[in-house]
Amino acid sequence: MDQVADAIMRTSRPGPAVIEIRNGDISVTLPEGHPGYGDERYIERREWIAAAAIYARSGDPAPHVVYSDNDRQVWRLATEELRDLHRRHASALYLESVSALNLPSHRPPQLREVSDAIEKETGFKMIPAAGSVAVRTFYGSLADRNFHAAQYIRHVSRPEFSPEPDMIHEVIGHGPHLVNERWAHLYQLAGDAVRRLRRPEAVELVSRIFWFSIECGLVAEGGEPKAWGASLMSSTKELTHFQSADIRPLDLADMAKQGYNSHARQPVLFMANSHAHLEDFLGEFFTTIDDDSPYAV
Ligand SMILES: [Fe+2]
Repeated sequence: MDQVADAIMRTSRPGPAVIEIRNGDISVTLPEGHPGYGDERYIERREWIAAAAIYARSGDPAPHVVYSDNDRQVWRLATEELRDLHRRHASALYLESVSALNLPSHRPPQLREVSDAIEKETGFKMIPAAGSVAVRTFYGSLADRNFHAAQYIRHVSRPEFSPEPDMIHEVIGHGPHLVNERWAHLYQLAGDAVRRLRRPEAVELVSRIFWFSIECGLVAEGGEPKAWGASLMSSTKELTHFQSADIRPLDLADMAKQGYNSHARQPVLFMANSHAHLEDFLGEFFTTIDDDSPYAV
């Protein structure tokens, strides 16, 4: 029942759904301002999907989800718009990897299909998450090549925005990373790092560097910034505006002192000179960080 504990350990950020378990029943509460607030049918579906994730047996494939017409509409819209933006703004490695995943455009894929395709290439599995997962659990799973992924889809009223990671973020943002060993290796190193750290400040530093690379990373290609981070790749808004951010070279001290808010556009982004540069930078950081890191404050 680890996933039950995970579901209860919510992050304190405003915006995302709150999941509670009472006498075995799962309730999902969407705060005011959430795009799905007041939509009872959407909330019921979220509750069903959350319950299926919480009560899934460890090692079983992700539960089959019956998506609604609205879900299918959001998926189609998002994939169509994102495909166009990816062609213009994504890094070559992202484009190569997303095409290897061969995601359907007319319907949301089942998480188990995506997980199977990824597992064949890198051994990573996508396992169902009811909602936000506790930080140590999330990273600890990466060390075992498991990635916690949400199966619900953002609300139809705001197809360009989700206050929490949804299926579009997990599959279109993280899926292409996990299917490619060059990125999959970095995810595993991040997991290994958190497993050996004791101080919360050191774990927070790993999360911050993960955020500014795996979630919001850029790489220079042909003298231009190209996007590859999962949060950028799964958001039409981010991909439309990232070039106007303050784009800086990868620098541990600079990244460590940046604040971040996953619900707002990131004003500062970091760009690697090449993918090999990114691998050297993150590989070195994740394998050497310890509880005494001067940046872990
Ligand atoms: Fe993410």
